[in-house]
Amino acid sequence: MPDTLSPQIRFGSNSGQPATRRDGVAKVTGTATYAADNHPDNMLYAVYAAATIARGRVATLDTAAAEAHPGVVRVFTHENRPELQGDPDEKPTMFSNRIEVLQNDIVRYAGQPIALVIAETIEAATEGARLLDPRYDLQPPRTKIDDNETFEITGQAFGQPGPTIYGDIEAGHAAADLAIDVTYETPGQFHNAMETHSVVAKWTGDRLELDTPTQALTMSCAAYAYFFGIPAENVTIRSPYLGGGFGSKAFAVGPIVLGILAARATGRPVKLSLTRQQMFGPVGHRGTTRQRLRLGTASGGALTVIDHQGIAATSSFDDFLEAAPNATQGLYAAPALSSTHSGVRLDIGTPGPMRAPGEASGSAALECAMDEMAEAAGMDPLDFRLANYSETEPGTGKPFSSKKLRECYEQGAERFGWASRPREPRQMMDENGLLVGWGVGTALFGCPMFQAEARATLRSDGTALVETSAADMGQGAWTALAQIAADSLGLPLDKVEFRAGDSALPDGGVAGGSGHTATAGGALHAAGSDVIRQLGELAAADPDSPLHGAGNASFVARDGRIFLDNDESRGETFAEIFARSGGAEIVGNGNAARNPEDAQRHAMSSHGAVFAEVKVDPDLCQLRVTRLVGAFAAGRIINPRLAESQLMGGMIWGTSFALHEEAKYDTRTGRIMNSDLAGYQVPVNADVHGLEVIHVHEDDPYVNVLGIKGVGEIGITGTVGAIANAIYHATGKRIRRFPIRIQDLLV
Ligand code: MOS
Repeated sequence: MPDTLSPQIRFGSNSGQPATRRDGVAKVTGTATYAADNHPDNMLYAVYAAATIARGRVATLDTAAAEAHPGVVRVFTHENRPELQGDPDEKPTMFSNRIEVLQNDIVRYAGQPIALVIAETIEAATEGARLLDPRYDLQPPRTKIDDNETFEITGQAFGQPGPTIYGDIEAGHAAADLAIDVTYETPGQFHNAMETHSVVAKWTGDRLELDTPTQALTMSCAAYAYFFGIPAENVTIRSPYLGGGFGSKAFAVGPIVLGILAARATGRPVKLSLTRQQMFGPVGHRGTTRQRLRLGTASGGALTVIDHQGIAATSSFDDFLEAAPNATQGLYAAPALSSTHSGVRLDIGTPGPMRAPGEASGSAALECAMDEMAEAAGMDPLDFRLANYSETEPGTGKPFSSKKLRECYEQGAERFGWASRPREPRQMMDENGLLVGWGVGTALFGCPMFQAEARATLRSDGTALVETSAADMGQGAWTALAQIAADSLGLPLDKVEFRAGDSALPDGGVAGGSGHTATAGGALHAAGSDVIRQLGELAAADPDSPLHGAGNASFVARDGRIFLDNDESRGETFAEIFARSGGAEIVGNGNAARNPEDAQRHAMSSHGAVFAEVKVDPDLCQLRVTRLVGAFAAGRIINPRLAESQLMGGMIWGTSFALHEEAKYDTRTGRIMNSDLAGYQVPVNADVHGLEVIHVHEDDPYVNVLGIKGVGEIGITGTVGAIANAIYHATGKRIRRFPIRIQDLLV
């Protein structure tokens, strides 16, 4: 791919290429080392016992039985757990919830740690935990939204969205000729990354080394340092590979603190690794929501109001909310827009960010409501969306840094064949007598950017090392970031070694919010550019260089050669400069953050359009998503193969949200009944049929110097609504509760 127009910087030939994963061979052959693969000498195993009730107190624990079991070294409960220096009810960083680390006998949710057994073997620790045989003072658990009163949210902190209201809501309702008032429900969902949360903790004096997967290395160091009363720089975290994060590994969590505590108390390295069942509780989830949407239109289908009220479930002791109504804020051009939130306290683990937090649930409801409104107005759902297309950000009137949503609609509809869709439901049948339905949903996700630092070292042998700490969580950062770095250094990709996933490296920011490529990539680009600047200065100062006296002229590097931006013939190879200078390497440093003025002046978002086809058996109501076409505009695409894979993953997750995923609570005990991968359903290959991604070209001169918006999360957002709307189109049945099940269609 040739250099394409770039807002501020010039890209080389590595970016834009569908390079294969550089970590692929290591993962396929099993040489990639995940946290729990580490076995330092003299290591112990810690296993925690989890509460089997959701609300009450621990009355008795048979610690004597556990302690008597061969191989058991220590047993900790709320009665003898060693002191922590930090308060577990405090949040040491912005990426923290309150944690449960045996601070008292209160049970706040099923799955909460209630005791910790440390042993010589994993078997002994597991058996010791089983022998504790807890007895409880039980109170009736609250697990459904109706089980408790709601409370209003007034703050604006992360996970606690406040109300956003633009225009006159009552006037918007009054101006409507047609109105709908519909309520959608989304269930609790759990991340279920392949790799469960794990830690191998090793203390040396007051220095702490951790092998643990984290999406936020620097913040995790600070959080664990806080709990153990040591400086953050005393904590080293290695997190080279994550077997999936999805937001669950962004926060510091209680079980990891217990593993570290076990190591400190015993003076030996300790491994603690959650079982699959233990993933359903202390490490976050996507909270249950109930969302009421009131939409009105005037003649011609112009929206007069979108009024989106969400109730989100949170725990009894913390405030993280799935900010679903936020999805309404920046999309359609209604003159009156309201997104408000309330919470409800239940006896569940605290929710946290889960892939496309807020928008996934919110856009599911919004896109269905838009379909219902289009239906009421007698309009094609795509025409209805186009009739309410916002050219500037609704409410604020700010220009978008870029917005190619119209092109997404056009290219997606064209590829899908949307034009031949009959407007009425139950009009299409395939050759096997299955009902066929087509639906559309708009995809939307913000493009946040964090702060990051990076280092680039160009060596005289023509290779380079680039370093930034943030971990690859399986999405391909290891490859895409190296492509950016290679371009900044003017080297082929195979000459660039990339190190990440270690807190000792320059702070790579957070791998989350779909912002990793933009954030860490920006820092790597700056570091590489710093190297080239130094190289150019070295040459310019050298009378033997063709660049001698080039002064402040800007230098460009490509294929191991540096030359003048405005005169490509004037330059020389890196090797020639190194040979004359006698140096072994040049080190450059860089950092990245969003330009606050650009952020102030512009609304920034990725957009997309997802088209879904479903087939439904008219008698048995068996349901298949047979085709998904998603067209996405997310700024510059560094690696189209990996970006396609990310977007496909998002769309599959959207399918999962629409049809599969749901944590089912036993209302008597408050336990999740399907806390394993047999009962907690996610799509398998047989559930995924045609899946197509279109990258819609988008140049964005403001979002960041690289023009990258990110693709990690947006794929879910349009897909859920598109599928639900296709089900309506196939069957004439509007299901307002997710996941949509066969039995919902049978009635
Ligand atoms: Mo994401 S929910 O920011 O990993």
